[in-house]
Amino acid sequence: MPVDVAAEIISNRPLSADYNVLALSAPAIASAASPGQFVMVKVGATLDPLLRRPFSVFEVLRSSDGTPTGVTILSKRIGPSTSLIYDARPGQIAACLGPLGRPFTVVDPPADAWMVAGGVGLAPFATLAESLRARDVKTVLFYGARRAAELFYLDFFRERNVELVLTTEDGSFGEPGRIVAPLDRRLASRAAAAPVMVYACGPEGMLAATARTAMKYGRPCQVSVERVMACGLGGCYSCVVPMRGEDGLFHHVRSCLAGPVLAADQIKWD
Ligand SMILES: Cc1cc2nc3c(=O)[nH]c(=O)nc-3n(C[C@H](O)[C@H](O)[C@H](O)COP(=O)(O)OP(=O)(O)OC[C@H]3O[C@@H](n4cnc5c(N)ncnc54)[C@H](O)[C@@H]3O)c2cc1C
Ligand code: FES
Repeated sequence: MPVDVAAEIISNRPLSADYNVLALSAPAIASAASPGQFVMVKVGATLDPLLRRPFSVFEVLRSSDGTPTGVTILSKRIGPSTSLIYDARPGQIAACLGPLGRPFTVVDPPADAWMVAGGVGLAPFATLAESLRARDVKTVLFYGARRAAELFYLDFFRERNVELVLTTEDGSFGEPGRIVAPLDRRLASRAAAAPVMVYACGPEGMLAATARTAMKYGRPCQVSVERVMACGLGGCYSCVVPMRGEDGLFHHVRSCLAGPVLAADQIKWD
């Protein structure tokens, strides 16, 4: 069950001129969150912006004895709410509702896990990497950004034995270009009998390209879609995605309830 808390901001760490990591004191949400779930957050008491915004749970914070104490969100500043989040100060209160939505299905060996992240789409993969490591799953992170300075938390993933495949659009680090290119090559060279689950989060065009690539090689793929969400609870229909139903026809489903993690091969992409 989601809980609604007035969460104290523990810290706010800027990563760049646009990205920051906000830590929230929210033990009940931290205890219940699974990889891929999200929270609806609003910082400050002003009426503008009126509505909370959705953010993936980035990390689960724990005390020294392992008790969950809070969550962090990785935020990219693109408008009013994310600007308030970027400028938030420790001690301020954030309205925080969660955890919401359906999480990723965490695979077990012998399946490998290949996580594909574009930009701020990295957010759901920190907790997923933790869960995969606990199950001894061999994990690769394909991570693409515009430039080297926008590739974050690389050591976090290295410390969890995640292999990194990195691309930048301007060629300033890793392979130049988009992240789907190395994913395609790697899928092409993988033995058909070796199972792999592809997980993806990022801009819609990247998700569509990842989904098509996984389908081309007959691999299962789960995507975390980032539609505009006004309520996060199924009440407003702002977040619908066309999905194939059991009758074989496409129906609009609310991605805040049925997702945000959805089976890539059931989504209508064009
Ligand atoms: C399930 C889910 C998880 C998310 N997780 C994260 C996360 O971990 N970190 C993060 O930084 N962002 C995440 N987002 C996106 C985040 O919710 C938006 O960036 C945020 O709502 C922007 O709020 P704003 O008030 O700053 O800007 P707004 O004024 O609301 O938006 C600025 C511009 O961006 C567009 N926009 C807003 N939301 C989206 C969206 N979801 N996709 C595409 N365009 C959009 C608007 O139409 C507008 O043009 C997530 C979204 C969803 C649905
Ligand atoms: S965000 Fe309101 S129905 Fe999904």
